[in-house]
Amino acid sequence: MTSSRTQIAIIGAGPAGLMLGHLLHLCGIDSVIIEIRSRDYVIERVRAGVLEQGTVDLMSSAGVGDRLSREGMRHGGIYIAFAGRRHHIDMAGLTGGRAITIYGQNEVVKDLIEARTRTARPLFFEVDRVTPAGLEDRTPSVTFEQSGEHHELICDFIAGCDGFHGVCRTVVPSSRLRIYEREYPFGWLGILAHASPSSDELVYSNHPRGFALFSMRSPQVTRLYLQCAPDEDLAAWPDDRIWSELRTRFETQDGWRPNEGEIFQKAVTGMRSFVAEPMRFGRLFLAGDAAHIVPPTGAKGLNLAMADVCRLAAALGEFYSTGRHGLLDAYSDAGLRRGWRAQRFSWWMTTMLHRAPDESEFDHKRQLAELEYLVSSRAAMTSLAENYVGTPFDD
Ligand code: APR
Ligand code: PHB
Repeated sequence: MTSSRTQIAIIGAGPAGLMLGHLLHLCGIDSVIIEIRSRDYVIERVRAGVLEQGTVDLMSSAGVGDRLSREGMRHGGIYIAFAGRRHHIDMAGLTGGRAITIYGQNEVVKDLIEARTRTARPLFFEVDRVTPAGLEDRTPSVTFEQSGEHHELICDFIAGCDGFHGVCRTVVPSSRLRIYEREYPFGWLGILAHASPSSDELVYSNHPRGFALFSMRSPQVTRLYLQCAPDEDLAAWPDDRIWSELRTRFETQDGWRPNEGEIFQKAVTGMRSFVAEPMRFGRLFLAGDAAHIVPPTGAKGLNLAMADVCRLAAALGEFYSTGRHGLLDAYSDAGLRRGWRAQRFSWWMTTMLHRAPDESEFDHKRQLAELEYLVSSRAAMTSLAENYVGTPFDD
């Protein structure tokens, strides 16, 4: 067994772990990042792609925003479609100029891995049997294996950035963690297609046959989603059926429809809301999906993870530069406040836009009344806009 020491052991090289490692590096704090998957898997994994202004600002102030500023697609509004009409919500106009930027999460991960590699600080892929220990001791540790070799990493703190299925949350005694959870009775069938986006902003559609979302990744690639069963069988969805269903669910009086092209990626994802409280146990800090999951309708998952690690890096920076632990002590409460705000918004967007399998006529009429109110009231549109573009990370 080889033994080594670092200040922060970061478990997981998703956006949360990689951004944390980078922010710590900028403060001169040493870390080791360990990841169970391969580098290619992490870079190629297709995920969401909506960055709040706060995430864009963080990438740029951390010196990893160059490609994002060149290739990211800034959107000042979104469309909401229902009952045969598309309605525009001018988010920038309603929020004093705040906007979102479309840039794939895997591109964020790629940029952060490159930045990490430039710093020459350790980042290990394809590790196995990751086990955090001694969380309530002064020197916790993480043991793991790589290429059959056993390693022990002794550290001051552990950052649990290992996503929803990671190990970190599971090592907290269940008596010290409260879980809040809600599963939705539907999922999303998502595709990427070689087709130029036919709208310059996203379209969220509530249709009697179910929700559909139009998004994009680049001037050549369209990203589309269809509400489906949580365990939908992809084999039942040949490309023609997907396009036909998308045409139906996006049909509006203005004649708009997505451009079609070769589908080169297809996947089904389930949807859930999940919160673990608190986000800290002794010297273990949970961040990102390890601590909370939101349904993707509000596009909050990646942004919440970024807000978490931004706060965690500031708290660790304060601790190492002054010995004070005020920000570390406040980390969980501040994260839960922001996290619950995102839960509320994501739940609201999801229930307003999807058709539940057991929905009654009353539910449907109420949903339409909600959508009518949303697109006709400046106050309601402002509420959506300020949540969608996101509040500043220090709020
Ligand atoms: N040891 C080391 N790494 C692990 C372990 C483990 N035991 N278990 C999981 N991991 C890795 C995963 O392989 C993954 O690369 O941790 C990483 C977690 O990354 P994400 O799941 O991307 O989570 P996070 O970094 O919190 O990113 C925020 O919000 O809406 C979502 O899709 C969005 O994934 C994004 C997330
Ligand atoms: C995406 O582009 O992948 C996307 C956009 C908006 C969402 C979710 C995902 O709400």
